[in-house]
Amino acid sequence: MNAAADASGPIIVIDDDQTMRRACEAALRRSGYQVETFPDGASGLERAKEVRPGVLITDLKMPGMSGIEVIHHVKEIDPDIVVVVITGFATVDTAVEAMKGGAYDFIPKPFTADELRVIIRRAVERHRLSMEAKRLRVEKEAQARKFVTFVSHQLQSPLGAVQQYLEVLLHQMGSEIPEKHRQWIDRSSKKIAEMLKIIADWLTFSKVEGGTLATERKLLRWQDLAAETLESFVTTAVEKQVTLVNEVPDDLPSIIGDESALRMLLSNLVSNAIKYNRAAGRVTVAAEADERVVRLSVTDTGIGIAADQLPHVFEEFYRVKDGSTVGTGGTGMGLAICKKIAEELGGDMRVTSEPGAGSTFTVVLPREGIQTNAPSKLN
Ligand SMILES: Nc1ncnc2c1ncn2[C@@H]1O[C@H](COP(=O)(O)OP(=O)(O)OP(=O)(O)O)[C@@H](O)[C@H]1O
Ligand SMILES: [Mg+2]
Repeated sequence: MNAAADASGPIIVIDDDQTMRRACEAALRRSGYQVETFPDGASGLERAKEVRPGVLITDLKMPGMSGIEVIHHVKEIDPDIVVVVITGFATVDTAVEAMKGGAYDFIPKPFTADELRVIIRRAVERHRLSMEAKRLRVEKEAQARKFVTFVSHQLQSPLGAVQQYLEVLLHQMGSEIPEKHRQWIDRSSKKIAEMLKIIADWLTFSKVEGGTLATERKLLRWQDLAAETLESFVTTAVEKQVTLVNEVPDDLPSIIGDESALRMLLSNLVSNAIKYNRAAGRVTVAAEADERVVRLSVTDTGIGIAADQLPHVFEEFYRVKDGSTVGTGGTGMGLAICKKIAEELGGDMRVTSEPGAGSTFTVVLPREGIQTNAPSKLN
């Protein structure tokens, strides 16, 4: 089989010596590889960013950007690019340094076309294998998730049935039941309710992930969604002695989205803002718009989130690990679901927080009439 068949994209060669560039190009082309050559690190890296080559060859000693720096930048662009360095006899030490920096192999000068080909064939094979391993990993993960979803789904009915039996048992035994037994049944029932919530959250999450939850596209008024959501939390807020404030302006432009998914998103945010608040605290829902997006924010005066935890709060099953969530109950799926819903609707989620002072979670969505497939551009 032609080795070139396994190469992904062109091989990029960076060398300030024109004779060397030509020699490499000729030798590799003869083996059927596509080759692009560059006289310096900057131009070679620019191209690497565009084409993401499987293999990149760089000279070590060059004026301007050195080969070691090139390797460093290549690894930032894509750690899967396999780098081979060309080095003079006197610089074996530097070659070792290059290998430590992430180069896969080195070719000492002078070398023959055959020597170059052997090393590059190995590098191409290495890249192919790491791509294959990556693909298998992704496939395996997808299968594992599918399995979890299937098992979760199957557990729902039996768990629901057990919960009902416990309720019937409590009811039938009435006042004759010893207090201790009543406590045991209550505890079992609570545990089952927790399991059912994890299952329901997981199933919701995999639905949004699979693109089957936020499917409707309807013109919606945030004002109505915010008012109705806050209304549904009045009792919880009173219990926690938290005041709910609606500051969504009446002239806010409409958004386009899935009503029940957005209700779920907003409910998760308000629920958190109450749950992680303090007594006599406040939860404020506000909004603003510019010509492209509508930003809806939920601000609380609660416990806040430490800066090192902040990047993780949108991850599945993540709960802050500093003791602040003790006794609050939750599966850590609420925000992961929020983020997926926002992304599904062409938007995104943001968070800012100050420990001890409070947090603001913001949903950014394209406003009415704006079509976008690039959520990352919204801010
Ligand atoms: N408004 C907030 N203030 C402080 N911490 C918060 C706030 N919202 C979320 N968090 C932190 O982020 C974590 C993840 O939130 P998320 O809503 O995903 O899960 P949860 O509230 O723990 O459980 P549930 O799945 O029931 O919503 C929480 O456990 C909490 O530590
Ligand atoms: Mg939550």
